[in-house]
Amino acid sequence: MKTAQAGIFALGTSSHVYLEFDLVDKKQCKEFASAIAAIREPRTTTGGVNFVIGFRPELWHQMAPEDSPAHVQGFDKDIAGSEGFVMPATQHDALVWMSGSAYDVVFDMGKTVIKDLAGKATLKEETSSWAYRHDRDLTGFVDGSENPTLLDAPGYALLPDGVPGAAGSVLLLQKWKHRTMEWESLPVTKQELVMGRTKAESIELKNKPADSHVARTDQDKFGNIFRRNMPYGNVEEHGTVFVGFSAEQDRLARMLNSMAGVLDGTRDALTRYTQPVTGAYYFVPSVEGLRELR
Ligand code: HEM
Repeated sequence: MKTAQAGIFALGTSSHVYLEFDLVDKKQCKEFASAIAAIREPRTTTGGVNFVIGFRPELWHQMAPEDSPAHVQGFDKDIAGSEGFVMPATQHDALVWMSGSAYDVVFDMGKTVIKDLAGKATLKEETSSWAYRHDRDLTGFVDGSENPTLLDAPGYALLPDGVPGAAGSVLLLQKWKHRTMEWESLPVTKQELVMGRTKAESIELKNKPADSHVARTDQDKFGNIFRRNMPYGNVEEHGTVFVGFSAEQDRLARMLNSMAGVLDGTRDALTRYTQPVTGAYYFVPSVEGLRELR
């Protein structure tokens, strides 16, 4: 039985950094693979860092065809939704996501990773994120209420035993910039209709509108995923880093289409108050898969 990368399920960390890289030379992917697989967390019992390493699905397929799930694709084309709404595609070759108890440990480790990959991969996108009021998104709503528990999450997030890519996961990483002024000018009752849940207690509304966020991403319809979203940004410019894991890419892709209004013309009301500025899929292989790259 294969083992999932532990960082996927390492809840409770308040500081994160997502480093997205492109290969310097696509032909040197073996050298890149062994450098990225050699990345090590600091040896310490108290100041540890969790890692999640993912690859552009086509790159992973090239590096490990036997351990690669069928039909997983990069986020290579913008999603054109209704009323001119667009989710941009900003796919990169690899992702190193680090999380820890404080920013100094992820900062130091991030510098080491960039140095270790120098000459083989170039940093293209860096985002750091931090916990806000324990478990709230910067919209003020609790994020993660309908997440599966840690006992159930592996069943939804990981490819099952015995298939190519077993214990791996498809990750959607998408940075959303909030239109805070517009959002905060809405009365709380309106915000609740947009989200489909109450703000203070995160209770699902009985008659939630069809365009509410939780109606557009209803897991009873699309299948369960495991989310590790975090707030990012500074006082002036900020939003949500959407970090969603699924055993099947289709669940995530259909949720995005549903939010954009591609499925039936109804666009997620939340997309009127927040705009995706990046979008990429990464295949996150098992630890055995990563070790093979060394
Ligand atoms: C700015 C971006 C986003 C924000 C602020 C946001 C926030 C939220 C909040 C507050 C909830 C309700 C509580 C909960 O169950 O977690 C929720 C539910 C959910 N969101 Fe998002 N979300 C965002 C983007 C996305 C995206 C891009 C997806 C999928 C690709 C997604 C998938 C889901 C799912 C599956 C649920 C649970 C639905 C259910 O009740 O079954 N969200 N989100």
